[in-house]
Amino acid sequence: MFPDNYLQPRDDGLPTRPVGEWTAEKLWYLERYLSQTLTALRDKPWRGLHYIDLFAGPGKGRTSAGDVLLGSPLLAVTLKYRFTGYFFSDIDEAYIDALRQRCSGVPGVRYFVGDANEVVNTVTEIINRIDREYLLGQWSSMNVAFLDPEGLELKWDTVETLSGVRRMDMLIYYPQMGINREASKEYQKSPPTSLDYFFGGSEWRDVYAHYPRRELHSRLVELYKRKLRQLGYKVDFDISEPLMRNKRRRAPLYRLLLVSKHPLGAKFWRNALAKDRYGQKRLL
Ligand SMILES: C[S@@+](CC[C@H](N)C(=O)[O-])C[C@H]1O[C@@H](n2cnc3c(N)ncnc32)[C@H](O)[C@@H]1O
Repeated sequence: MFPDNYLQPRDDGLPTRPVGEWTAEKLWYLERYLSQTLTALRDKPWRGLHYIDLFAGPGKGRTSAGDVLLGSPLLAVTLKYRFTGYFFSDIDEAYIDALRQRCSGVPGVRYFVGDANEVVNTVTEIINRIDREYLLGQWSSMNVAFLDPEGLELKWDTVETLSGVRRMDMLIYYPQMGINREASKEYQKSPPTSLDYFFGGSEWRDVYAHYPRRELHSRLVELYKRKLRQLGYKVDFDISEPLMRNKRRRAPLYRLLLVSKHPLGAKFWRNALAKDRYGQKRLL
């Protein structure tokens, strides 16, 4: 309807997703991480530089005040340096239709409608095939996945499948509020519950039973990181992951966790976190 506005943080007549004020903070860190990664890696002989957004949404969000902001897929396609390929999926077909229209002028985008925990198999097959098409002098592909569901929809198996790709950095949403809401109920139920799927097993139940509530999330994040390390990731146990909160009630909502198999990933993430959206230095 208004194609000039498709890639701008403006109304373009297509569907948007309602977002809270904390969304801008999450996207701030994502954008800083992606910019640094692309700036540093752009001239290397990759077989492809891919961005994978399995919970992509329609590409734009709208706050309760009516402001329109670019969602993660549109941020990724409008960075100064480009990825060579994009994989966007969402369970909501109308969101993917809107995203497809918004990105109609962007080369190299593949779209999928479906559960991220299933779409991941097709996406990793495509990337592994690209990696196998060996061309003299080329490296494997370099990939960044953003895993940003609403709550507890991301399954550990999906993270594990992605980890099978040779170079796959992952920025993962840790659903603190969802865990707070569900843990006591799910603890009473036999596995597998949504928390068992999220953590890839039932070890979270021991953590839940043994640690006081104020330590719960630092212990659970530690558990999650230990599992990521077993997948071959270099995990920074000393970093303090950003915790997004509801601004009015200060209620904790979610954290963001970055893992890479290369030491540069942790360095870029630390740099990305060094400054918050208001220009304040963050303590890491
Ligand atoms: C928090 S939003 C993502 C926002 C997006 N990253 C952005 O910055 O605009 C989560 C998205 O996941 C989608 N979703 C929920 N469950 C899903 C699932 N199992 N598989 C794929 N997408 C799902 C929702 O439709 C929603 O668009």
